[in-house]
Amino acid sequence: MPWQAREGATRMVEPRPLFIPVILGTVRQGRRSAPVARLMVSELSRRPGIETDLIDVARLPLRVDDAGEATKDPTFAAQMNRADALVVVSPEYNHGYSGLLKHVLDSCLREYIHKAVGVVGVSAGPFGGARGIQDLLPVLRELGLVTIFWDVHFATVENVFDESGVLREPAYLPRIDKFLKELVWMARTLRHGREHIVLE
Ligand SMILES: Cc1cc2nc3c(=O)[nH]c(=O)nc-3n(C[C@H](O)[C@H](O)[C@H](O)COP(=O)(O)O)c2cc1C
Repeated sequence: MPWQAREGATRMVEPRPLFIPVILGTVRQGRRSAPVARLMVSELSRRPGIETDLIDVARLPLRVDDAGEATKDPTFAAQMNRADALVVVSPEYNHGYSGLLKHVLDSCLREYIHKAVGVVGVSAGPFGGARGIQDLLPVLRELGLVTIFWDVHFATVENVFDESGVLREPAYLPRIDKFLKELVWMARTLRHGREHIVLE
């Protein structure tokens, strides 16, 4: 398979853990994206050499009287600066992504450059947030992030978790595993590039 490592590729030993936070991209009351984000944090935490955190856009001190870097929150900016990669949990709202997610992402810029990002779509409908993801990808690119080529799609999300937020459908776990393996590979590769390869 073309995306598998070449023969002779080595397993890199990281000098320090990768930091891969999960952004929960909605403030909606009763949001079903919350158990999805918690599951992603839990799946990341199980992996050796990775630190993670849940960044809830509802808990950020969000200024809505301005836009862009003028609204930068120092704690969020420090987390983006420290991050090697991001997981963005993005619910689909009217075939797009959440406006407040975009507002928060717009508050930083140089903090994201040459870092990996993967998107997890969430929807009540059958497409797992795919339409919102498609619209979000060029935004992430413009921010300097490097998008991976896998997404995870939580379709008809109301059936996927029970009332206490526990995953009902184990078929999601191998999909998440494939997604996170790619994200971690890209995070390692880009960290190596940021730290060792001069941009001419
Ligand atoms: C304003 C709004 C628009 C929505 N539009 C769509 C949509 O276009 N397609 C869809 O499948 N679900 C749509 N939904 C349902 C969400 O996908 C659903 O709430 C899902 O659980 C993920 O979002 P949540 O984290 O807010 O729960 C919409 C919900 C809201 C609040």
